[in-house]
This record gives sequence, structure tokens and C-alpha cells, in this order.
Amino acid sequence: MRDAIARLPASKIREVANAAMGREDVLAFWFGESDEVTPEAVRRAAADSLLRGETFYSHNLGLPELRAGLAAYLSALHGPLDVQRIAVTSSGVNALMLSMQMLAGAGDEVVAVVPLWPNLTAQADIMGARVRRIALRPQQGRWLLDLDALREAVTARTRVLLLNAPNNPTGWTLSRHEQQDILAHCRRTGTWIVADEVYERIHFGPGAAAPSFLDIASDEDRLVVAHSFSKSFLMTGWRLGWLVLPRGHLDAVGKLIEFNTSCAPVFVQRGALAALDIAPDFVPSLVQHLRDCRDRLVAGLAALPGVEVASPAGGMYAFFRVPGQDDSLAFARQLVERHGLGLAPGVAFGTEAEGWLRWCFASRDPRRLDAGVQRLAAALAL
Ligand SMILES: Cc1ncc(COP(=O)(O)O)c(C=O)c1O
Repeated sequence: MRDAIARLPASKIREVANAAMGREDVLAFWFGESDEVTPEAVRRAAADSLLRGETFYSHNLGLPELRAGLAAYLSALHGPLDVQRIAVTSSGVNALMLSMQMLAGAGDEVVAVVPLWPNLTAQADIMGARVRRIALRPQQGRWLLDLDALREAVTARTRVLLLNAPNNPTGWTLSRHEQQDILAHCRRTGTWIVADEVYERIHFGPGAAAPSFLDIASDEDRLVVAHSFSKSFLMTGWRLGWLVLPRGHLDAVGKLIEFNTSCAPVFVQRGALAALDIAPDFVPSLVQHLRDCRDRLVAGLAALPGVEVASPAGGMYAFFRVPGQDDSLAFARQLVERHGLGLAPGVAFGTEAEGWLRWCFASRDPRRLDAGVQRLAAALAL
């Protein structure tokens, strides 16, 4: 086996979850998904597709009508976007892996803004690239980017800049000014931007989406944007996402898709078409619900003496820390084993986030969040 694969770290979130395997009394907030099922219209469309017998391969790049639907969906959010820039992928994580396979080879430098969902840096490791980490810095619970440090780190030697905003786990969201600055810098250095924008709709600021590189980049910039149906449409188990590529890159990514998964399942793509149909009503109401969940959880955490937390601008996570609890993995294990509270340890997202905990607030019934806060209060013996 290649060394790079043998050395890949196991998931520390799973390590905590495994410690509570089979226990029904645990309130679990460790994974990045809601406990609410996919909307019925989406499930029905997929079931109908199966019953019609749509059980065959599709085009590598996805059903033409889904790609056209995605072009219309993105054009409404970010201005005109050509369908010739869109490839359907088998999940957001697959979209990101395809990007890495396309762009980063052995020895190439990849700069990643961290803390970060560990899959992104693991993908660069799998390709044999060298990952350089640039840390966001916490200030009263809010995580901020040091633009000067980023500009210094990204040089003509940097092949790929990896960014995820709104960010999992911190909720950090790029401002338009930061995006413009980063894009201008990467144009100068010739660096590709891989922007993970899977949480763009889970955004609590003005507008229908968080600031996106698609708003400001030209169709020839070295920019790849990865997306997913998982978060905005409650479709985590469906494994469907998409990529937005610069003009002229579709054939290359089509070949890569052929050698990875060949195509996404047709019935899943039919479900996705139904998701795009309901998007204008569904997504805003989901975001409103998540806003209520966020406000409730953050207020509950902030009321616990000593807990450091800020209200995230985007994403579905409260990221917080308890003074004196510097080993997040040990603390998360203790919380689940003794108090039945399932959270993700910050260190799962990098040593930069050691001492922090991530709590997914996407909960169908927000009272679950209150019950969780009570368990945390009990654990802190308040
Ligand atoms: C930052 C980030 N990117 C990408 C993904 C991938 O989502 P999926 O593979 O479910 O489409 C996730 C899922 O948690 C995520 O948190």
C-alpha cells in the first residue's frame, strides 16, 4: 500500500461516535446532517424514476436536464452561468476529490485555510500533495482570516488554494472584500482556487446565498466550485453534488468521472430535479428553521458561565469552547460516555481547533437542542 494511504488519519468524530455505539439515550449532534427526512416531493420523484425502470447509466456529466436546471439555479443566485461549466458528481465530497485529482499531483503545494472539514486535506494527502495550513484565528468565539498571512502563503509555487466558506466547523464566512482580494492574488500567482461552497445557502446574512466566488470570477478564472444537494435539501444519504468549472474543462472532468464513478445514479438525479423545483420555497424555509435552531442553541450555550461561543454567520454548527477543557477528544468522549451528549471534537478539524467542540444545530425539533444544553450544564456541574 502507498505510504500516503497508510498514514491517513482515522476520523476523530467517528472515534467519539463509536464510543456510544448502540446506546439509544444519546443526544447526537456530532455529524453534519439534520435528523429530518428529505422532502417528500424529492423522494417521490426518485421512487417514480425507479418504478419507470430508469436503472441504467447516464452521461458522465449528468442528465442534460439536471445540468440545465443547475445552470438556471446558479444563474438566479450569481448571474448568468453557462451549462457548459457544470458537471454532476456523486456527492460534494466526490466533487472535491475530482477537483484534487484534476489539479494537484505528487509534490504540488496546496494551501488550506483551516480549521477545515478533514476530508479536504485528506484528499490532497491522497494525491501526494504537500498541504500548508493557514489558520483562522478565534476572537471572542468568532473566527477571522488573516489576509496578509494568506497572501504571504500563496505564492507562484502554490498550485491550489483550498477554501471552505461558510466554513465547517467554525461558521466563518468570507466577505466580498476578502474574496476579491484572494481572487486578485491568485490571478497573480497562477493558483487554482478550489472553493467548497456546499453551505452557501445556509447563510444567515442578507441575500439568498453567502458571498460566492461565482459572483466575481470570470468564466476563465482558475476557479473550481464544489456543491452538494446534501445540506440545502436534506439529502445527505443521496450522495449527489456538482462542480462548476472554468470554460473548457468539462471534457477533462468527464473523463475523470468515467474512471471514478462513471455517473451519478439516474433516479438520484431525478430526485435532484424535484429538489430544484421546490427550492424557491423549500430552501428559505429551511434556512429560517436553521436560524431559529442556531439562535436557540447559541443563546443556551452563551448562558453557561465561561462558555466561549459566537453566533455563526453561516453553516449549521455552533463552535464553542469551555475554558480548562483543552483536550477536545477526551472531553467529547467524556460528554458522550457520562452524559449522553454527542458532539464532535474540535481537534478532528485540525490542531488549530484543539480545545473546541462542534455542535450541529440542524434539529427537526429544536427542543432537542435545549435538552442537549441541559446535559452540557450537568456535565459542567453548573
Ligand atoms: C465543508 C464540507 N464540504 C463538503 C461536504 C460534502 O457533502 P456531501 O459529500 O454529503 O455532498 C461536507 C459534508 O459534511 C462539508 O461539511
